[in-house]
Amino acid sequence: MSIPAGAYAQAVARTTVHVCSQCGLQSAQWHGQCPECGEWNTLIEERLGSARAARAKRPRASAESAGGGRGARADGPLPTPVALADVGAAPVARLSTGIGELDRVLGGGLVPGALVLLGGSPGIGKSTLTNMVLAHLQRDGARTLYVSGEESAEQVRLRAERLALGDALGAPAPAGAAGAIPIDTARRHAAAPAPALQVPVLAETDLDVVLDVLAASAPQVCVIDSVQTLRAADMSGAPGSVGQVREVAARVMELAKERAIAVILVGHVTKEGALAGPRVLEHLVDCVLQFEGERERPYRELRALKNRFGSTNEAGLFEMRQGGLVEVLDASARFVAEATRAPGSVVLAAMEGSRPLLVEVQALVAPSELEQPRRVVSGLDRNRLALVLAILGRHGGVRTAGADVFVNVVGGVRLEEPGCDLAVALAVASASRGMPIAAAPRACFGELGLTGELRWVGHPERRLQEAAKHGLAEVIAPPGSGPGAREAATLREALAAALPAGPSGGSRTRRAVPEPTGTALANVEDRRARAGERVLRPAPDPAARDA
Ligand code: TYD
Ligand code: MG
Repeated sequence: MSIPAGAYAQAVARTTVHVCSQCGLQSAQWHGQCPECGEWNTLIEERLGSARAARAKRPRASAESAGGGRGARADGPLPTPVALADVGAAPVARLSTGIGELDRVLGGGLVPGALVLLGGSPGIGKSTLTNMVLAHLQRDGARTLYVSGEESAEQVRLRAERLALGDALGAPAPAGAAGAIPIDTARRHAAAPAPALQVPVLAETDLDVVLDVLAASAPQVCVIDSVQTLRAADMSGAPGSVGQVREVAARVMELAKERAIAVILVGHVTKEGALAGPRVLEHLVDCVLQFEGERERPYRELRALKNRFGSTNEAGLFEMRQGGLVEVLDASARFVAEATRAPGSVVLAAMEGSRPLLVEVQALVAPSELEQPRRVVSGLDRNRLALVLAILGRHGGVRTAGADVFVNVVGGVRLEEPGCDLAVALAVASASRGMPIAAAPRACFGELGLTGELRWVGHPERRLQEAAKHGLAEVIAPPGSGPGAREAATLREALAAALPAGPSGGSRTRRAVPEPTGTALANVEDRRARAGERVLRPAPDPAARDA
């Protein structure tokens, strides 16, 4: 139902309107299906005559004000654009959260007046992280406020008590110490409340109340947990609906910018982003952080998806323990120590933002019963695996067409950089041949080109340094990586270096294999067949079938 321009519409004093996000239709009522364009679930409630709408109605000349003209009125003098060099850029005084990994991901700490959206699936540790942040800030003398719409104040206190135990004075608990603190320590904390217990908490879901308290108590840092639980009374949608979430964020932002309050908005986002609620805020907020990991495993990764005040390359690694989240400062050491070095395992010298990280990449290749063999990957892009398998088949002589391939980055780490190609290729080759990577310990990195060449990737010196620091002296790397690298120009060279016993499989069959005739790797398939080793059943070639 579109708004009739007649008397009825004027008679009804409405404050909100439902707007179709597809065709822009405005309707007084909510519809599941847009009566205009027929799309489902596209009508979103919006406030009529909001500050945003007022801005939109402002005359063009002032709406486009730039530089020093910020905040100029429509009826005031026309602002003059200012050269960037003349714009005074006051250095941003950031507030350290007391958690190094988080500060790094934020680009150096919280910026007053900035809105940070912390997304993650339920139970991943968002409340724990934000509780810890406020405890640290409280300890450092900052004014804080924790708004909980999800849990009662008692529940928040219970968590804070756990944190106070594991995190006696706010410093990250040393490995193994968490949870081992004796009970009498807890009693001492009860006498002099730990910083985690001094954080003011407000259990409230009414947006107006929250804003009033926020304005009255004027904290420097505020956490709203979660944005989906607050409700603007004058909007009809249920809490967590797109309209409500947008309204809540917009009004919190208005106040936060006005009073220079750094706000962390917690939002539940499933991995697929299915609960689209907080996603609609991404353009609005200054910084979007995603807290990832698997609930069953202890490692948690924090990355910036958007950051107006820093890089989005950074990622922080945490471990969930009994006493809260602990920063994993030397993740490389841990991952290298845990690496199995069995067939199918290879250590990758990766970059996580500006920081090198050694991780183990594992692969399993098994004959498949399926028409379309499985390609299962965790911690990497699935399409990247498909590409690497194609390059391996074409330029490395490792065919996996009839086999299920599983690739996993150990520890639940997610890698999003091109330098992991070579590690995936070597892990798959090693698994497919049942041979461990030669002369382990050894690491690798590099991007694979479509013609089988190994391509240079960023920060080779830092990757090599990190590998050397952890005793992985020889690193297979692309040309131009510098001293300390065992450079390989192509995938074939890298395979020859990593699996030098030849392409014929494990030592079981090596004696039976005749000396290679052509270039070693060109004979991969032939030699396997001649050695009598079971060759993975190749899938029917679709091109041949069609012909
Ligand atoms: P929580 O922070 O409540 O998750 P979210 O706010 O993202 O939904 O905590 C999630 C899990 O962390 C919870 O199942 C219990 C666990 N946990 C610990 O293992 N140690 C701790 O010290 C705390 C506070 C929580
Ligand atoms: Mg929570």
